[in-house]
Amino acid sequence: MCGIIGYVGRELCIPKIIHGLQSLEYRGYDSAGIAYISKGKIKTIKEKGKIINLEKLLNFDEEAYLGIGHTRWATHGVANKINAHPHSVGKFTIVHNGIIENYNELKEELINKGYNFKSETDTEIACAKIDEIYKQEKDILKTLSKATKVFRGSYALGIICIDEPNSLYAIRNTSPLIVAKSNEGNFIASDVPAILKFTNKYFLLDDLEIAKITMDKVTFYNQDLIPIDKNINTFEGSVEVALKNGYEHFMLKEINEQDKVFKDTINYYFDGTIDSLKKNFKFLDKYKKIDIVACGSAYHTGCVGKYLIENYGNIPVNVEVASEYRYKKCFYDKDTLVIVVSQSGETADTLAALKKAKNDKIDTLAIVNVIGSSIARIADKVIYIKAGCEIAVATTKAYLAQLAIFSLISIYLGYKSKEIKDEELYKIFKEIKQMPKLIKNTINNYESYFAIADKIYKNKQIFFIGRGIDYATSLEASLKLKEISYINSVAYQAGELKHGTISLIEKNTPVIAIATDKNLFEKTISNIKEVKARGAYVILISNEVIKEQLCDEFIKIDDVHPILESILTIIPLQLLAYKVAKNNKCDIDKPRNLAKSVTVE
Ligand code: M6R
Repeated sequence: MCGIIGYVGRELCIPKIIHGLQSLEYRGYDSAGIAYISKGKIKTIKEKGKIINLEKLLNFDEEAYLGIGHTRWATHGVANKINAHPHSVGKFTIVHNGIIENYNELKEELINKGYNFKSETDTEIACAKIDEIYKQEKDILKTLSKATKVFRGSYALGIICIDEPNSLYAIRNTSPLIVAKSNEGNFIASDVPAILKFTNKYFLLDDLEIAKITMDKVTFYNQDLIPIDKNINTFEGSVEVALKNGYEHFMLKEINEQDKVFKDTINYYFDGTIDSLKKNFKFLDKYKKIDIVACGSAYHTGCVGKYLIENYGNIPVNVEVASEYRYKKCFYDKDTLVIVVSQSGETADTLAALKKAKNDKIDTLAIVNVIGSSIARIADKVIYIKAGCEIAVATTKAYLAQLAIFSLISIYLGYKSKEIKDEELYKIFKEIKQMPKLIKNTINNYESYFAIADKIYKNKQIFFIGRGIDYATSLEASLKLKEISYINSVAYQAGELKHGTISLIEKNTPVIAIATDKNLFEKTISNIKEVKARGAYVILISNEVIKEQLCDEFIKIDDVHPILESILTIIPLQLLAYKVAKNNKCDIDKPRNLAKSVTVE
């Protein structure tokens, strides 16, 4: 999604803004632009495509000490130079992340007052509205206060005005924005990686707050212009987190971090005793129903979570995609817990689903990676995964950490419901300790998965099949493959194939079958035989020892308790997707049309 950076200080702003934009590239974008004040004038330069195209148009030594930059992921209007940000109207120039929902209404009103527009964006309308209010108020803070009362929708705005060439302003509602402080000057940004090279001290701007930023000072106001004090945060990770550490791609680096991520996430909530689980998850005792709501891969962890919670906790779980849930009739009540899952904590649909549950006074829990993100701040209760900064658009380590949380929840609920007896409980505890090593070993077998990828990467479609929890894993494996390799891939419940989809199987069609659930193993094997008989090229991934010649390729994973197994199962499939995409020369960390954080509906 769009990225914002702004700087005012003692040093030249253009190099800082370009660096900030590069650090936000992982969010996805299709044009970039910058506006800065030089010799008393606002200059705006923007270009379609990658930041490198913009860089070619800039003089990095230009005497400019205040500026704003933007990477745009097209929503209103195609990706072109005119629609790229910043947008200027009258005395103001702004960059914007989010959607001004009432922009059509505002546009009509502004056209009647003599404004005309060059772009198709809601941002230009917002800028004109700010300019129009300023003509009456003649004060920027009063103008922005009024604007926050007029704009509907989600926005993070970075604002400069030619009447105050030494000040940068920011307002936000729903879309994320931080304000950062350094000795050489101060920043605004959509996310921490954009400012890490310069400072690790930052404030989180909350909904409907206004920030005024000058070279030496940052001041915050609420919507009614009452000054507010804010706590400063320190980002503990180093700049290294934003670097690849020698790996060719962030995705590969992040896959390789998964043993540590598992350990960090588990250790935060579990010290090897049932008491630690009781302390952290006792709050779940009162719920008789659970709704899990999320998008994309986070939704897939919810599918695994549903299977585990129902099986071990004996609690019915409804898992839904957030973009559907937010608009549907929900049958929750005081006995229901709504769990939202999100790596970024900013996904617009998940946030809206959370707000809906909150409005209906339903208890909410968020499983989130990004500390202080919008979802984390709104939910009644938060469980942070400890995945660290995830840069690759295709999630891997955050997915695995979310699974780790669902494992802990299921162990606790299984203990409570007595589905898990003492002996089994201690066996699971022992296996949890071994998991980082087993995760590392699974990653270290990458060459065997890469060899399979080399055989199938030219295919136009690849199927995944599985039953029960293995079907949930198939969904994620299929998404991973298609989002980074652009190969059409579908995941099916293995038993459902014969009801239609099997007609697509022809000679050498790759079918990746997952069979780790011992109760369903024989059933899945029968389905494998069905596709094999129709010429499929079968890749089987299982924790069982296979005696007969069932498949063309076999990936053996370690046999652990079902509560932990899907954590191991996904790893070869992440690496397989990675290598298929690499062989196809795809942009692995930034797949086309995708954004890391989907902050629009
Ligand atoms: O930040 P979130 O976890 O809320 O993001 C949800 C999805 O947009 C995300 O998982 C997406 O599907 C990824 N590209 C998957 O790799």
